[in-house]
Amino acid sequence: MDLVLVGLPGTGKTAVGRRLARRHGAAFVDLDSTIEAAAGRPIPAIFAEEGEAGFRAREREAVGALGPPDPSPTLSRVIATGGGTPLDPRNRWALYRGRLAVWLDGPPGILATRLRRSPVSRPLLAGLDPEAAIAALAAARERVYAPALRVNGVAPLGQVVATVERHLDDAVGPGGGLLRARTPIGTLEIGDGVAAAGIARALGSLEARRAIVVSEPKAWSVAGEALAADLARDGVAVETVLLPRGEPAKTLRVIERAARDLARLRAERRDPIVAVGGGALGDAAGFLAATWLRGVPVVHVPTTLVAQIDSSIGGKTAVDLPEGKNLVGAFHQPAAIVADVAALRTLPSRHLRAALGEAVKMGALGDERLLELLEIGGRAIAAGDGAAFASGAVAEVVERCAWAKVEVVVADEREHGEAGGRIALNLGHSLAHAIETVAAYRGILHGEAVAYGLRAAVRIGAELGVTPQAHAERIESLLDGLGLGARPLAARPEALVAALAVDKKTAGGRLRWVLSTGSGVVVRSDVPDALVAAAAAGIVAGRSAAPVGGTGAARAGRGR
Ligand SMILES: NC(=O)c1ccc[n+]([C@@H]2O[C@H](COP(=O)([O-])OP(=O)(O)OC[C@H]3O[C@@H](n4cnc5c(N)ncnc54)[C@H](O)[C@@H]3O)[C@@H](O)[C@H]2O)c1
Repeated sequence: MDLVLVGLPGTGKTAVGRRLARRHGAAFVDLDSTIEAAAGRPIPAIFAEEGEAGFRAREREAVGALGPPDPSPTLSRVIATGGGTPLDPRNRWALYRGRLAVWLDGPPGILATRLRRSPVSRPLLAGLDPEAAIAALAAARERVYAPALRVNGVAPLGQVVATVERHLDDAVGPGGGLLRARTPIGTLEIGDGVAAAGIARALGSLEARRAIVVSEPKAWSVAGEALAADLARDGVAVETVLLPRGEPAKTLRVIERAARDLARLRAERRDPIVAVGGGALGDAAGFLAATWLRGVPVVHVPTTLVAQIDSSIGGKTAVDLPEGKNLVGAFHQPAAIVADVAALRTLPSRHLRAALGEAVKMGALGDERLLELLEIGGRAIAAGDGAAFASGAVAEVVERCAWAKVEVVVADEREHGEAGGRIALNLGHSLAHAIETVAAYRGILHGEAVAYGLRAAVRIGAELGVTPQAHAERIESLLDGLGLGARPLAARPEALVAALAVDKKTAGGRLRWVLSTGSGVVVRSDVPDALVAAAAAGIVAGRSAAPVGGTGAARAGRGR
């Protein structure tokens, strides 16, 4: 068995690791020493010459060189990591799965005192007040340490070692947890195979003895049924309410039926709803939770890529009316969101691919690594290729998108803000909604529509000089590679423009366009009608008819 020690600088990872390795006749690997040996110079010199990015690349290499985890039950290797090693999702994927990961923790004040006395130089803390700097690192990194088993690292060395050894004896690893964060909009857990443990933790924090699992037939068969059985085995009383599959779940009639089921079950305020399914199920179950007894806790267990990267986060719940989608709803933040990437393995390719339309949008908001990840691995993810799951690419996409959404929503929960706020998430959505409306929500998935809308937005942005040309081209070729938003649309451009007019983001009669700057967005209400009409015509015509670069749709709009 491999043991991995993570935690802030000064928590004693090296001392604890050495002692444990000696006591168990195991090998000891100090990642920082491995990096220094490979580089032939100390870490401060690597930072000075190659910057933090150069150091992190070397760190990833060192993690990769560890090879696969040792599956034997006895301790064979102890790995002490650098304080920042788990920041990179790729490192966590490699380090936390199949190994026992332990988080050595301690109060910033004590860690700062230890660091002041330490002869080791820490480049990231150089020139800063140590306690304040450590406290800031602790706040920023808690979510990446938290999936590991937490141990007090500032107790006497012998005591720390004894505590870790008890965990070795229990042989209870942290599972496949990759991220765990307490946020103002619910606890977020992401991992591989973490659904049962994550739900149990969420119900534990709610002190719930009974849970109402709300699901739909498909999600129930691939995930819900097994999870309900796990909960029952853990002693939780489980009731089940099944809604229809897909968008038909989002009607007031279905909510009424489900609420009457809850009445029959005598569901109380302290009985949380556990919503297991995709975005449609989550929107309906979330609305049920928001309104039943004026609001009961909900735990979202998203089982589609759309739901994991987008819809389960942010507290928007809704049902549809014949007059339009999502017209009746409420903001109702979940107690927890448990995103288990293992659930996505059964998702049809079309749904994976469409969700990547939203993922490209998140990348276009300024996440360089996400764009790179999609450029390299997007096609394999869209195809549902097992290698994309095994490499951690799917998990990294989920984490990057989900965390970015958490940050945006926390900053602007009810969509009051301007460019930096929640409206940023609407990049590409103006024309996407118009396409969905014109298609009467049939035959096109939301993420597929977003891909068209994103193309229109970067063309308009490039034409207005807001979106750098190179960025616009990059987004279009990424979408080309993913097979999104490229085919001609069966819609009239004028119909799309007419549908835009009733878009809910219309303010003072002018549509507010969210446009990418490459590193963020701006909101513009002065996009000329002719440019919009040309963009609509461009996406209707399809990719080959509308190449990016100041030609096609965008050029056609100028000067009209
Ligand atoms: N609340 C929000 O902020 C928000 C954001 C984006 C989208 N949405 C809503 O989300 C919905 C779209 O989400 P969606 O694409 O997840 O839809 P969905 O819930 O209809 O799921 C898509 C299909 O996948 C199936 N499915 C679910 N999990 C599966 C699994 N693990 N394996 C195989 N099949 C599985 C479902 O049965 C369904 O047929 C729309 O209603 C949209 O309005 C809401």
